[in-house]
Amino acid sequence: MSLALRSLDESVVVSSDPVQALVTAGWLRLARSTEVGRAVLVKQFTRDGHSWTALLWRMRSGAVVAMDAVCPHRRYPMSDARLVGDAVECPIHGYRYGPTGRCLNMRRAAPARVLKVRETSGYVWLAP
Ligand code: FES
Repeated sequence: MSLALRSLDESVVVSSDPVQALVTAGWLRLARSTEVGRAVLVKQFTRDGHSWTALLWRMRSGAVVAMDAVCPHRRYPMSDARLVGDAVECPIHGYRYGPTGRCLNMRRAAPARVLKVRETSGYVWLAP
C-alpha cells in the first residue's frame, strides 16, 4: 500500500513497504542477508553503467560491512581477501582494512573505500 502526497507543484509517493521505499530511493539490492557471514563475500554490481566489485562480511557484532574490492595500496583486486577478526586482509601484501576502511597494520596506508549499506527485509542494500 502506498500513500500519495501532493505539494504545490510536484507529487511525492511515499510507500509503506520498506523494500519499495528503498528501491524508489535508489538503493541497490546487493546480497541476501543469508549470504553474508564470517567470510568475505565477493559481489559484482552495476551502477551508472559501470561494473563494480564489493567485498561484504559480517562482523562479530552481526553488522554487515561492504567495501570496494580494490586495494588502495597498489590498486590490486582484493577478491581473494580473507577475513581476520573484523578486518579484511589483502592477499597481495597483507594490508588489513577494518570496518571503517582504516588500515590496521600499516600506519600511513590510504584507507579503503567503505560502501554505505543497510540490512533490511532479508537483504543487504547499497546506498544510492
Ligand atoms: S595491493 Fe593490497 S596490500 Fe598491496
